[in-house]
Amino acid sequence: MNSSTSSGAATTGISETLEPCSIIIFGASGDLTARKLIPALYHLFKDKQMPVEFRIIGFARREKSDESWRTELRTALDQFSRTKPVDDKIWAEFSKSIFYCTGDMTETAAYTRLEQKLSSFGNPQLRQNLLFYLATQPSQFGIVAEQLHLAKLLQKKNGEAGCGRIIVEKPFGHDLASAQALNNELTRFASESQVFRIDHYLGKETVQNILMFRFSNSIFEQLWNRNSIDHVQITVSEKLGVGDRGGYYEEAGAIRDMVQNHMLQVLSLIAMEPPVSLEAEAVRDEKVKVLKSIRPLDTADVAKQVVRGQYFAGAIDGQPRPGYRQETKVSASSNTETFVAMKLLIDNWRWSGVPFYLRTGKNLPMSASEVRIQFRPTPNVLFAAQCGSHLDANALTLRLQPNEGISLRFNGKVPGMSLGVRPVRMHFSYDAEFGAYTPEAYERLLLEAISGDATLFIRRDEVETAWQIVDSIRNGWQNKPLTNREFYSAGTWGPIAADDLLAQSGHAWHEPQVVK
Ligand code: BG6
Repeated sequence: MNSSTSSGAATTGISETLEPCSIIIFGASGDLTARKLIPALYHLFKDKQMPVEFRIIGFARREKSDESWRTELRTALDQFSRTKPVDDKIWAEFSKSIFYCTGDMTETAAYTRLEQKLSSFGNPQLRQNLLFYLATQPSQFGIVAEQLHLAKLLQKKNGEAGCGRIIVEKPFGHDLASAQALNNELTRFASESQVFRIDHYLGKETVQNILMFRFSNSIFEQLWNRNSIDHVQITVSEKLGVGDRGGYYEEAGAIRDMVQNHMLQVLSLIAMEPPVSLEAEAVRDEKVKVLKSIRPLDTADVAKQVVRGQYFAGAIDGQPRPGYRQETKVSASSNTETFVAMKLLIDNWRWSGVPFYLRTGKNLPMSASEVRIQFRPTPNVLFAAQCGSHLDANALTLRLQPNEGISLRFNGKVPGMSLGVRPVRMHFSYDAEFGAYTPEAYERLLLEAISGDATLFIRRDEVETAWQIVDSIRNGWQNKPLTNREFYSAGTWGPIAADDLLAQSGHAWHEPQVVK
């Protein structure tokens, strides 16, 4: 999106514009560091996108030396790297910049050691230009920010280099009140412009392409409103169950895990007005406006417009899957939803009366994320009058993953003497057009954070407005255990009620496309 640094890097292959910086990872012994962060930084380095000089410091409680941490990370990289084998020469060069600082997050002396380490690098920019990645429990955000501030590593300013930036992971709170409390904690010692809230969907190439597609082509945007669009379907389906994340998932459920963040982000990119510029604040202003225009749901609306579900035992691709209540760390009487479908209305000039249907779930028949823009049917004359229900309305599908691409569906005449009509498709495929290019979302996001561009990160008002929507739905579920019709067999498209939700308005879910 908006990044002079990354576009510069793309053309020259070298990020001359990025200032030397140090990235400090709190909770460095955790899974995220080994699986995502180090592989992403390694690839940025490999692609010559990192600043000319940088340091990565892991901060965690376990006693380790720089050398032992490097060895550990290398083993993990062999497993998690998206390119294999790991390039020994590049790793040797890259790992010289990796260090480890043993310390407890509450211990002041540990931050003094961190400060000394940063100063020992000799280059004042490596001590000044700091990026703190909080891969920790949210309950620790406040104390880390405070300790960093006391150690003079984090100062509340306007986000310019030299005052520190903080990256935080989801989940960002579990409801509006807890998100506000976290925001208040973080902004005691950093201004909003220094806080980078991650939603990895925004790092996906195809999600970024939504804005490019809408605002760099003149033909689609003219149709992008209630005059031409009948409804929009956003599906994020996952073939996997909750696996070993039962403990976390019991607290989250599909609505907090997927809707509050990823799905509402996709919706806001699809529905937003053109921003006045590609600057972070301009883009984020428009996204927030969409979220604020979503019609609030009271308890009666939730009963009518939101369907939840939980999977019971079933099979996918012939493999048996246990029911959710049988998963590890899940209560045998759990009411947590593993599926949710909803109809949202956006009360603004552009979208008034156009339903946005969202659905997501675990243990569904396929893993696919896509947005389907369903256009209005033609008037019931000419071919429509002759063909009746055989004449499909046009649809534009943005396939976010897999088979990344865009398809336009329209009607074509079946060759021959009769007036046979058949829907046909025009496909654009990323791979076919640009070759396989699959950088991890974290690569892009880390690069943007290093360069200080917040466009792809969630602003405070965005996260809080999204929680308001989710809270209202959860309120509607309060004291209502799941009923029989809310269960679905693993390997199906969710409870029947999800189909009924659309059928009420004469609509039907479309299965994600598999394009060869
Ligand atoms: C995460 C959720 O944020 O996103 C997971 O916590 C989910 O439950 C994942 O599986 C989906 O991400 P992706 O990139 O695989 O679509």
